[in-house]
Amino acid sequence: MSYSPDLSFIYFAPTKVVYGVGSVSELPMEVSNLGKRVVLVTDRGICDAGLVDEVRDILGDSLAGIFADVPQDTGMEVCDRGAEYAGSVGADVLVSLGGGSVIDTAKGMSIIMTEGGSLSDFQGMQMLTRPQTPHIVIPTTAGTGSEVTSAAVVLNREQGQKIIIYEYHITPRVAILDRGQMQVAALLAGWAFSNALLGLVHAMAHSIGAVRGIPHGLANGLFLPHVMRFNLEEVPGLTADIAEALGVNIHGMAPLEAGKAGIAAIEALQDRIRLPRRLRDIGVQEEDLKKAAELAMSDGSVVYNPRMVLSSDEVLEVYRKAY
Ligand SMILES: [Fe+2]
Repeated sequence: MSYSPDLSFIYFAPTKVVYGVGSVSELPMEVSNLGKRVVLVTDRGICDAGLVDEVRDILGDSLAGIFADVPQDTGMEVCDRGAEYAGSVGADVLVSLGGGSVIDTAKGMSIIMTEGGSLSDFQGMQMLTRPQTPHIVIPTTAGTGSEVTSAAVVLNREQGQKIIIYEYHITPRVAILDRGQMQVAALLAGWAFSNALLGLVHAMAHSIGAVRGIPHGLANGLFLPHVMRFNLEEVPGLTADIAEALGVNIHGMAPLEAGKAGIAAIEALQDRIRLPRRLRDIGVQEEDLKKAAELAMSDGSVVYNPRMVLSSDEVLEVYRKAY
């Protein structure tokens, strides 16, 4: 079965959002709607920050165990290990507390806890036909949007590539946002890109992340103006919209000119928040670029870029500009 190609759009946003300072205390009620025994998925940094203790107290007897073994870039084997642990303690609900890597680990675990096998059996899109283990997200960063998306990005270390698993059935059931407006912004962005899908920025960020371990958010930010320039002639009007949203007065400007002003506004914002602007300043070597450009061509996000990406040479060109 597939949808008619004439359809205008489908909007899918099933995650319940619970928002407000102190909203983490609503967790027991959300858990009780979904299951009985929780495994909390998190990382060492969150444990050290004391946040796990708070959630442990809130969960009380429903907490069956804690899986805190999540690295910066999670991998297939991490999800497999986490699912095995969750199975061993009889968990039927996952609560993730952390950033993108932690959330995506729980998404991967939810598949294995329901379907069995190994996450490497599920590299693809829309292969699942039934609900997966329910998952409640408490994001601790503002940026990934993963708390409302149908995607998990997981490193396949054998292939040396970040794999996108895109499945409606791994969309989290509940997102609890306890930490301010930036989290709402990230969530809205998550809803947008989970439906409109991604593009070349993400393909390049995943690939340089796989080759050189550059953090995902940093890489996305660094590539953004370069890819906007690459796309500009294809979508000048959209880029002009961004300029306007950023407070640029585009009155009287042609769309292309307004688009360029939007890119300049993003670069000015990056300077203001002191985001590194060159790959060479964050540990990337020039010889990494070719490999990353080739990887980017097989990344799922590249297909949805507004300007068709024809070859790895084109991607390499953008990497060089960012270098
Ligand atoms: Fe992302």
